[in-house]
Amino acid sequence: MRSILNEKNLNKKKILLRLDLNVPLENGKITDTTRIDKILPTLNFLIKEKAKIIILSHIGRPKGKIVKELSLEPIREELEKKLSKKVQLITENIKEIKHKRFFDSYSEEILILENIRFYSEEEKNDNKFAKYLASLGDIYVNDAFSCSHRAHASIYEVPKFLPSFSGLQLDTEVSALKKITSEITRPITCIIGGSKISTKINVIKNLIPKFNNIIIVGGMANNFIEFFGDSVGKSIKEKNCNLIIEEIINLSKIYKCKIIYPEDVIVSNDLYGSSKKRKLNEISSDEMILDIGSKTIERIKNVIDNSKTILWNGPAGYFENPNFANGSIEIANKITENKKANKIFSVAGGGDTVSLLNNLNVVNNFNFVSTAGGAFLEYLEGKILPGITALN
Ligand code: 3PG
Ligand code: MG
Repeated sequence: MRSILNEKNLNKKKILLRLDLNVPLENGKITDTTRIDKILPTLNFLIKEKAKIIILSHIGRPKGKIVKELSLEPIREELEKKLSKKVQLITENIKEIKHKRFFDSYSEEILILENIRFYSEEEKNDNKFAKYLASLGDIYVNDAFSCSHRAHASIYEVPKFLPSFSGLQLDTEVSALKKITSEITRPITCIIGGSKISTKINVIKNLIPKFNNIIIVGGMANNFIEFFGDSVGKSIKEKNCNLIIEEIINLSKIYKCKIIYPEDVIVSNDLYGSSKKRKLNEISSDEMILDIGSKTIERIKNVIDNSKTILWNGPAGYFENPNFANGSIEIANKITENKKANKIFSVAGGGDTVSLLNNLNVVNNFNFVSTAGGAFLEYLEGKILPGITALN
């Protein structure tokens, strides 16, 4: 992997810069700017070197269609504010931009192509689409560690066609995680929550041999609760997970890794409602699980007290509504308390998790906070991420 930081001669070069500007949005407003703040050093470096920057990024999951609410416009605005520089959003169909010279008609140093996931070819890792994207630039830079676990066109395929480099934030994340995983001390507890069940459930099997405890909260916990015989009402869950959960349970016995999932929960009829406590056998069909209950919180705190390392990705509940933030807050506070007492080494990662820790003002109480969620977990698995492979 070559870092763009060591490249000189970037004057007037067109840099295709893949960023992860997938920040949390609420009614078109950015609720946490961490992923933007973290890539500013790369942008400032490229500006200083007088390069022409063409940003590629996705936001959300528009699944190959134009979704107005998932435009990069709010991000463009924020970049402009942070850089005090004009940033131009290119909304034309990028497949119809005929030539590199297209960009010469813009005087701005920074252009940003509209949400790359508006094109179905992106997630299909389409070779022709990638070749076309590559034809728009002279050099490719990946500063999107948090989506480097996706073998998508702008991450995996484009670098095949251009001299390719890592960005400053990707360098930072990879070297921090390398150090953490090589110096890690047991007992190790990994807390996995959030709503992206399908990304994460497959990772668990490979984490079991490495860790002492895996705490499952958030959306994935619903699949576990159901597997063990209780109804989860209208909670989010992934289909066809029984086989993989069975494997997880069997492996956890072989490797003596404890799997902890909620024993009580907080429910509501919808995301905006008030909270009600429930035992697992009390959840009715019109209720959804939105947080962990008090017994579960006590159990998790106890596990944290008996751990030397805590790795955390994904909130315990729908913390965007304060009625369902308690589980996540209690976990964050317990980690903070033990970190301050020098009892643990703690690492957290993921867009929502970082946003939660920022809200609580506890980011500095963690040894390292990664912008990456899924990529962070896959890195812990020991996988070489597609985005990193492509740079090597
Ligand atoms: C993230 O938020 O983890 C990254 O932006 C990747 O998003 P994805 O899970 O939709 O691929
Ligand atoms: Mg995310």
